[in-house]
Amino acid sequence: MKTILIIGIGAGDPDYLTVQAVKALNRVDVFFLMDKGPAKTKLRGLREEICRRHIAPGRQYRLVEAPSPPRDTRPADYLASVDELNAAKQAVFERMIESEMKDGETAGILVWGDPMLYDSTIRNIEALVATGRHAIGYEVIPGITAVQALAARHRIPLNRIAEPVALTTGRKLTDGFPADIDSVAVLLDGEDTYRRFANAEAYGDVEIYWGAYLGTPDEILISGRLSDVADEIHRRRHEARQANGWIMDTYLMRRRPR
Ligand SMILES: C[S@@+](CC[C@H](N)C(=O)[O-])C[C@H]1O[C@@H](n2cnc3c(N)ncnc32)[C@H](O)[C@@H]1O
Repeated sequence: MKTILIIGIGAGDPDYLTVQAVKALNRVDVFFLMDKGPAKTKLRGLREEICRRHIAPGRQYRLVEAPSPPRDTRPADYLASVDELNAAKQAVFERMIESEMKDGETAGILVWGDPMLYDSTIRNIEALVATGRHAIGYEVIPGITAVQALAARHRIPLNRIAEPVALTTGRKLTDGFPADIDSVAVLLDGEDTYRRFANAEAYGDVEIYWGAYLGTPDEILISGRLSDVADEIHRRRHEARQANGWIMDTYLMRRRPR
């Protein structure tokens, strides 16, 4: 039996690891890394830093890096392109499991934030197990998500008392605020979708709590009435993206009680 630990490593700060995650890191014989894009070097550096900081001195482990399969950035059919990408990732994981670990060993996959939020690692490993081709057991260890980091850094609760919050993507938000929900936490927005809601006459009074590079030395936080701060967020976001070559940002938008 081979064991896979899918470990949430938090969304930026190496201190965003749970004690459970630290214990899991110390069980791993081989780490599988599959980063991509312009942030690759930084993300790999952070993963190495986490291993250095949290794995007991003298404990031996291996790092195996595989290239992440390429992704169509402007696909005609978004869901089909995600399925394709995940099938390619499953094949990469399968090769690593077959050739880079022995029976009885434990592999670790370090997942940004928490593996349950907008991440396909659990789905990919589950699909691999379902093929029945390998004797694999797997565990999931939670981490601090970008949404938790955002709320903590702005010192806000995520929900209004007894009210729901929607977690969504920039792509979905182009359809508008989810029905009957006044608070939305938005990830994966490459298009500054919040700007659509800055017109107070059309959308009412909306407030925003925005954060980029949360938990890292480059962190930027901006909050306020969306109509007042949308242009500033847009400007800072684009300046930061230019300066760093990549950006990760998340925000909470709330319509004020009507
Ligand atoms: C593929 S999703 C993964 C989310 C991750 N599993 C989590 O739990 O936070 C990537 C998105 O998470 C958000 N994100 C992740 N880390 C972030 C950070 N340090 N600062 C701001 N946003 C972040 C961004 O919206 C980014 O586009």
